[in-house]
Amino acid sequence: MSAPASSTQEIPQAGDVPRHVAIIMDGNGRWAQRRRLPRIAGHRRGAEAVRATVRACAERGIRYLTLFAFSSENWRRPAEEVALLMKLFKTALQNEVDKLHASGVRLKVVGDTSRFDPKLRKLIERGEELTAGNTALTLTVAANYGGRWDILQAMTQYLQKNPATRTVDEGALAPYLAMSYAPEPDLFIRTGGEQRISNFLLWQLAYTELYFTDSLWPDFDGAALDRAIASYRSRERRFGRTSEQLQEAKRPEVA
Ligand code: FPP
Repeated sequence: MSAPASSTQEIPQAGDVPRHVAIIMDGNGRWAQRRRLPRIAGHRRGAEAVRATVRACAERGIRYLTLFAFSSENWRRPAEEVALLMKLFKTALQNEVDKLHASGVRLKVVGDTSRFDPKLRKLIERGEELTAGNTALTLTVAANYGGRWDILQAMTQYLQKNPATRTVDEGALAPYLAMSYAPEPDLFIRTGGEQRISNFLLWQLAYTELYFTDSLWPDFDGAALDRAIASYRSRERRFGRTSEQLQEAKRPEVA
């Protein structure tokens, strides 16, 4: 299979339904705090929103869904919250992987998983292996992931394989990036009201349409996804070209 297109090297195909949606799921803590519940209750509801969103994406023909579940910087949270999040990931993997498999979902986890406990790593490995042949939807969970980590780990691997090299181009580096199996995201969604990328897919978001919503992640559902897709459809994706060039390309040829 050929490598997915790079948006800075060629003009990717862009359809009405985004092929790849990447989401920063923010606002779990605030959702819980507003209800005077512990923060972990918000993460639990967040896990339910994940389930609903995976289903909604599959129903709409989205082929890749990437979720930022735990950033390299999230270790800075209180130890108790980190431990409870790890427990939640384990439970989710134990309960959901068979269902994902039955629905034809391929599970991938990207990030530096070496810092996770062996049981969690085993569950990740099992989930990836079991679902490796599925083609309906690729669900990528970014866990202990950071965009800078990704670029640096790709560069490190590249240099280890090519020790004599003095320059590197995009095409040479791309296969070493953690998400080399996926096209770049068409649509990025961040819930929870903040408008930043927070060290998510820095390389891959070069030409992605950005959508921010004040909704908190536990409230995200199919209708919220549809609003994001409607916004995406209203954008003109120029990939560096002028608007006139796009109109020209759309005009039917006159004989
Ligand atoms: C951000 O909300 C959310 C996280 C750091 C964790 C995301 C985890 C889940 C949605 C749970 C399950 C995920 C999977 C893949 C099973 P926040 O705590 O920063 O919210 P706040 O900004 O309101 O404090």
